[in-house]
Amino acid sequence: MSTILKVDNLNMLYTSGNRQLSVLQGINMIIEEGETVAITGPSGSGKTTLMGLCAALDNPTSGEITLFGNLINPLSEDERAVMRNKYVGFIFQNFQLLPSLTALENVMLPLELQGIKDAEKEAALLLERVGLKDRMTHYPSQLSEENNSA
Ligand SMILES: Nc1ncnc2c1ncn2[C@@H]1O[C@H](COP(=O)(O)OP(=O)(O)OP(=O)(O)O)[C@@H](O)[C@H]1O
Ligand SMILES: [Mg+2]
Repeated sequence: MSTILKVDNLNMLYTSGNRQLSVLQGINMIIEEGETVAITGPSGSGKTTLMGLCAALDNPTSGEITLFGNLINPLSEDERAVMRNKYVGFIFQNFQLLPSLTALENVMLPLELQGIKDAEKEAALLLERVGLKDRMTHYPSQLSEENNSA
């Protein structure tokens, strides 16, 4: 079994104006291949902050994050974007789909950025796997009731 994610002594301090908020203090965590992990806690306890740091979306105040053996702290913004494209799938509470692209185009986009030749075929197969075969040309606003009312 190999290690997917390793978090070492992670600290996150938000500064807004002259106020500082320490959200994560000394977090250590290892997630192995094949594991399913739920991070639970009260609202405001730092779950989204932790997820954002683990997904290389944000930089911690201190501590180390290793994703698939790659230490992400020293990477540039562009290098972190490559890591995210290659290794991370992230479903935000509000999805963050591009509203002007169809479901198929939304799924194709990261594949095209990776330089995958058959991006359209690959995206179609992925959508089929999650039961969206007949709705590939739908826009995000047409895909779920929840999204429609947002
Ligand atoms: N960019 C930011 N700047 C300043 N403070 C922030 C920022 N993002 C989050 N916070 C604060 O950090 C704390 C942790 O927020 P976070 O969103 O990580 O919590 P959460 O556990 O995901 O909460 P919820 O269950 O409501 O989603 C909160 O007090 C929040 O107000
Ligand atoms: Mg949250």
